[in-house]
Amino acid sequence: MESKKSGLLLIMSLVFFLCLIFMASFCPTMAQEMADVAITKELEEQSKLLTYIVYVKKPKGSITAQTEDLDSWYHSFLPATTASTNQQRLIHSYRNVVKGFAAKLTVEEAKAMAEKEGFLSAWPEKILPLHTTHSPSFLGLHQRSGLWQGSNSGKGVIIGILDTGIRPDHPSFSDEGIPPPPDKWDGECDFNDEDTCNNKLIGAKNFIKSSVKLPVDDVGHGTHTASTAAGSFVKDASVFGNAKGTAGGIAPYAHLAIYKVCSFQGCPESAILAALDTAVDDGVDVLSLSLGGGSAPFFADSIALGAFGATQKGIFVSCSAGNAGPGNSSLSNEAPWILTVGASTIDRSIVATAKLGNGAEYDGQSLFQPNDLGSNLLPLVYAGANGNQSSAFCEPGALKNVDVKGKVVVCVRGGNVGRIGKGVEVKSAGGIAMILINQETDGFTTIADAHVLPATHVSYPAGLKIIEYINSVSTPTAIIIFKGTVIGDPLAPIVSSFSSRGPSLESPGILKPDIIGPGVSILAAWPFSVENNTNSKATFNMVSGTSMSCPHLSGVAALIKSAHPDWSPAAIKSAIITTADTHNLGGKPIVDQTLDPADIFATGAGHVNPTKASDPGLIYDIQPDDYIPYLCGLGYSDKEVQLIVQDNDVKCSLVKSIPQAQLNYPSFSIEMGSETQDYTRTVTNVGPVGSTYTVDIGVPLALGMSVNPSTITFTEVNQKATYSVEFIPQIKENRGNHTFAEGYLNWVSDKHSVRSPIAIIFK
Ligand SMILES: *[C@@H]1O[C@H](CO)[C@@H](O)[C@H](O)[C@H]1NC(C)=O
Ligand SMILES: *[C@@H]1O[C@H](CO)[C@@H](O)[C@H](O)[C@H]1NC(C)=O
Ligand SMILES: *[C@@H]1O[C@H](CO)[C@@H](O)[C@H](O)[C@H]1NC(C)=O
Ligand SMILES: *[C@@H]1O[C@H](CO)[C@@H](O)[C@H](O)[C@H]1NC(C)=O
Repeated sequence: MESKKSGLLLIMSLVFFLCLIFMASFCPTMAQEMADVAITKELEEQSKLLTYIVYVKKPKGSITAQTEDLDSWYHSFLPATTASTNQQRLIHSYRNVVKGFAAKLTVEEAKAMAEKEGFLSAWPEKILPLHTTHSPSFLGLHQRSGLWQGSNSGKGVIIGILDTGIRPDHPSFSDEGIPPPPDKWDGECDFNDEDTCNNKLIGAKNFIKSSVKLPVDDVGHGTHTASTAAGSFVKDASVFGNAKGTAGGIAPYAHLAIYKVCSFQGCPESAILAALDTAVDDGVDVLSLSLGGGSAPFFADSIALGAFGATQKGIFVSCSAGNAGPGNSSLSNEAPWILTVGASTIDRSIVATAKLGNGAEYDGQSLFQPNDLGSNLLPLVYAGANGNQSSAFCEPGALKNVDVKGKVVVCVRGGNVGRIGKGVEVKSAGGIAMILINQETDGFTTIADAHVLPATHVSYPAGLKIIEYINSVSTPTAIIIFKGTVIGDPLAPIVSSFSSRGPSLESPGILKPDIIGPGVSILAAWPFSVENNTNSKATFNMVSGTSMSCPHLSGVAALIKSAHPDWSPAAIKSAIITTADTHNLGGKPIVDQTLDPADIFATGAGHVNPTKASDPGLIYDIQPDDYIPYLCGLGYSDKEVQLIVQDNDVKCSLVKSIPQAQLNYPSFSIEMGSETQDYTRTVTNVGPVGSTYTVDIGVPLALGMSVNPSTITFTEVNQKATYSVEFIPQIKENRGNHTFAEGYLNWVSDKHSVRSPIAIIFK
């Protein structure tokens, strides 16, 4: 009885967790509902307290560094009537990445604050959603050779993970062979027993004040992302016997600092900002955030604000692009000082084949591959045959009036339930197995999930054939045949359907996402067993999302940082972007979920190539102050720019503002009307002296393009050179029906190829 209950609890928490990861694409209403709740409360219960994030100017004079002085400055903004309760009203004081605080306020109190000298802005906080071992070798990383050797596998670099916490005693966080953290490390380990931390897991802190006190991961997401970025090697990792091998993070010798900012309920912005603020003090080198909201102005986006402050301190920030694809402009985390990471497949499938009574077979995927289903055909039923959409999605309770007992049940992906939750419903209604079929938008993207019953997830075309078969015979039958782990898909990496797409809404002059990396069916550490065997501490799970691709890139950034400790965040990003792969394992252009070539707003520069990224030849560097003319060019007011860059003296009228596309970014995104547009870029030589580069251009559709000069020779290390690019529109008819076009600008020497992707958005 007791164990049944906890089993159900486990299943329910898994379902909820998947909802969190896949919120945008699979549980689309939740984030919106949370925002709606905030608004409704605001309107209907004006007296109720909300958590506001309040941004203020730096106080005048030299007191800014003193925490006590800042705190009293912040307290001066709180309403006088609340003085007795101010301790409870003030939730977080920020001092590094922004000036301001989080406090419980009524709408009236927040409004009244706007009258005070030094006030910049205040927003009710949003609750942001989380976005959810073979992958290192897919990225060309191998023990004792190549980049892992050249960069010491991330030794000496500290990666800060903002997520759901950690299970500290998981073998992925063993510190065997890992030296103590660098002296600059100044963070805390908030587990009851300080010895819980070690040279791998050097710090852990909880910022969710209302929930559990400890930075323990009760969700799974944070343990997974942390071990993906920098997990230690664990032999014989597998789930249900699949994907067996040595598990290890991308930067296996880097240190991990854990910041718990999310729970089952999501990630409050006030906690995210507090963690970013603390991480800067602690001395992290790379920050990894697998979470985010929708597009917002950068001065009203807590992640963009916090990330800018971190960038000013030389910290590299890597974020998930979101799981709201495949529709265009569905991105999170668009700011140019952030690396925005989309998700693609690796070359591994965990194959489960749907075999129909007519002999047809359709390969799909499932992580759970039981051996007791047998091979006899069973009755097959489409859950939505009654015309009810809720039933078609196998939503909770929707199979009450459908006869699924003893049958293989076809469910459609989507609706108000996650993929695993559909199986929970089928199983509880008496179904024996599930065939999960894609809707058209998801195309060929299938995922190996830890289902609770025999199942397979098949493509949209396969789903159509299966429904067609069911409708064509009186007694349809099917069975699922489990074929285990298959490696070597020549189409990999394929952009997954859920990966969010550009163009950026907030800044269409910056190409986003920047890059894609492994994010589908990724095996990594998990705090508990998804199988029924709990005697091993080495528990793993396979999950999917841009949440999974982001920490791969955080790990890559750590490897580059340990190979080139003096490189700026922008230099590391440039190295990653200009060396990305545009072709798949089979040597063809990367495709998306339709199996047609993916466009530039799905791939950004392409798929990360860590080995090439550590030796890019040239870099496009950006210093924090270079963003000021760009921010002014976005049309932000002085106050808004001051808030982002934390400098009260910035005035856009005194700054020569620039168009977005003039930022020294390693890619181009141009909104093209009928005017010719000119831009310059400055490259820095980080390769050998005496290198001569010649430009190679792929001219976008219906455009002329010229680059000047077309040859550059570098006689020194760190020598800079500036070139100009002209984009010349052609007659509109040449565009046909295209709304955008793509090309590239590639500087080629005998050793290096420094490729900038070009997106043209026709206006
Ligand atoms: C984005 O999608 C809309 C609607 O499908 C389409 O009209 C538009 O051309 C697309 N934009 C780009 C840049 O692909
Ligand atoms: C579909 O089924 C659900 C669950 O059984 C039910 O609540 C809903 O009313 C049905 N919808 C229609 C349109 O019949
Ligand atoms: C776990 O055990 C329960 C009870 O024995 C069983 O019903 C369930 O199918 C098992 N789950 C898996 C994934 O093996
Ligand atoms: C452009 O779109 C129009 C209207 O949809 C269509 O009639 C025409 O054939 C299209 N042209 C091309 C070149 O695809």
